Amino acid sequence: MAANLIDRLRELKGQASAIPKPADEKELNDLRVKYLGKKGIVSLLSQEMPSVTKELKPEAGKLLQEIRTGIETMLEDARLGIRRDIIRRDIEQEFFDITLPGAHPDFGTRHPIAAVMDEIVDIFVAMGFQVEEGPEAETDYYNFGGLNFPPEHPARDMQDTFHLSGIDMLLRTHTSPVQVRAMEKYGPPLSVIAPGKVYRCDADITHSPMFHQIEGFTIDRKITMGDLKGTLQTFIRRLYGPNTKIRLRPSFFPFVEPGAEMDVSCVICGGKGCRVCKHTGWLEIMGAGMIHPNVMKSSGIDPEQWSGFAFGMGIERIAMLKYGVDDIRLFFENDMRFLRQF
Ligand code: DAH
Repeated sequence: MAANLIDRLRELKGQASAIPKPADEKELNDLRVKYLGKKGIVSLLSQEMPSVTKELKPEAGKLLQEIRTGIETMLEDARLGIRRDIIRRDIEQEFFDITLPGAHPDFGTRHPIAAVMDEIVDIFVAMGFQVEEGPEAETDYYNFGGLNFPPEHPARDMQDTFHLSGIDMLLRTHTSPVQVRAMEKYGPPLSVIAPGKVYRCDADITHSPMFHQIEGFTIDRKITMGDLKGTLQTFIRRLYGPNTKIRLRPSFFPFVEPGAEMDVSCVICGGKGCRVCKHTGWLEIMGAGMIHPNVMKSSGIDPEQWSGFAFGMGIERIAMLKYGVDDIRLFFENDMRFLRQF
């Protein structure tokens, strides 16, 4: 009986090495069941093991193991071959036209407003100003009260304010509130440049409800109107070229005394007179002045000891003049044909 098992195992081993390779997954599965399945040939033979004598057991065990591994290896090789054939056939059937044009990713560009804003900030940083930013949702105090706008003063109406519903706050109408915040935070001496978004309830070809401003100020001992003029002159020459002239005209803002508006010689006609400067040769660019003693006092700075100048400008206007753009809305429509030109 036992010797007989060894013979049958040897015979099976010979047979197994001659099993023809399965051609597809079905044949492969049939073979697996036939030989290795629960009631397969190998399993049935291994059930006879308990009856094998002690001396023959090692040989019978070894033969069984060799048969099993031999068949498993052969089936695994066949399985990989079948998979490879399927993939190859898929690839051969697939049609791929490498001459079709691809999809081009649309790259953005630097926005002209951001570019002009950075350029202006860089000019002031080179002169020793530090950059500060403030919140766009402000309190009445920082936007008006702390800047010496008396309550109910008509100057508040000049800045068509968006009030936030439900809370006692507003969208800042200018970047001047950053003056008050920076004075409180650092104290004098101090030179700050503050770029950012501002909001006014106003819209036409030269006004947008959201636009950008840059505020600047310096506080130190014995700062004069001459320091203001020299600083702005330097700035304008760097921005528009060394031949650009400036002039200051008296004007009113509650937070400066004296207050002024600054004009530059027309960047389009060089001062000869054209449509853009309405034949005056000058363009109004910003507001400026000497910081009002009340603004210093409310920020805890003694106006007897310190003095300062401040200025504020709209970026869209400066960019429009720099690039010859005549409608402010073009900056906010995000038409790539417009934006790519800068
Ligand atoms: N905040 C003013 C505005 O938005 C601009 C301005 C004028 C700023 C005079 C200043 C200044 O710092 O001194 O119209």
